[in-house]
Amino acid sequence: MTESRPSLADSAVPQRLVVLISGGGTNLQAILDACSRSTDDPDHLAAKVVAVVSNRADAGGLARAGRAGVPALVLERLPGERRADYDRRLTELVGEYQPDLVVLAGFMRLLTSTFLDRFGAINLHPALPGTFPGLEAIERAFAAWQAGEIDESGVMVHHVPDEGVDDGPVIAAESVPFVEGDTLASFAERLHAVEHRLLVDAIRSLTPTGVPS
Ligand code: GAR
Repeated sequence: MTESRPSLADSAVPQRLVVLISGGGTNLQAILDACSRSTDDPDHLAAKVVAVVSNRADAGGLARAGRAGVPALVLERLPGERRADYDRRLTELVGEYQPDLVVLAGFMRLLTSTFLDRFGAINLHPALPGTFPGLEAIERAFAAWQAGEIDESGVMVHHVPDEGVDDGPVIAAESVPFVEGDTLASFAERLHAVEHRLLVDAIRSLTPTGVPS
């Protein structure tokens, strides 16, 4: 039996979010912080992170979830496991938490239609739409700036309708210009600050009423 994808329009506020991570989880932290702000704070996010799933046991974000009292789950790919089989297990696990929305916050695995046909998902990417898809986007943008090819990069949040890499209808995008004297570290720091704000704003823009509960 095919289960239908839950519709954001049908969901009660606060939205139930499942966040998928692979690393340090600073963007997960931004979501958790926004959810825990008081409802009369304009930066409040009317949502609840109901589970965090990592494909890596050593992801620092798992401890952030634990500190926030959110179930922190690890689902590693088994040796030789086919992508669709991993995605079937991930679909089952995530489905237990009945999310309104799945947020890919540094989840460094491509998802197949096995997963994406079931859940609405959005992805954060540390570059502007159509640029530097895949791994090490910040490093590649920095190298392109040093080579005189670009003078800005940026951040985007997009829907994930299919198996395209860091590609899909854009929800929010913001450029981050390079400045004279930038190092990779100084540029990355500015870019991450934009990510933390833009991701939360993008989730908020998908809230059905925009009115906190
Ligand atoms: C973020 O910079 C995010 O944009 C990037 O992974 C990092 C996760 O950081 N995602 C991608 O590169 C997707 N292609 P975090 O674990 O500290 O949130």
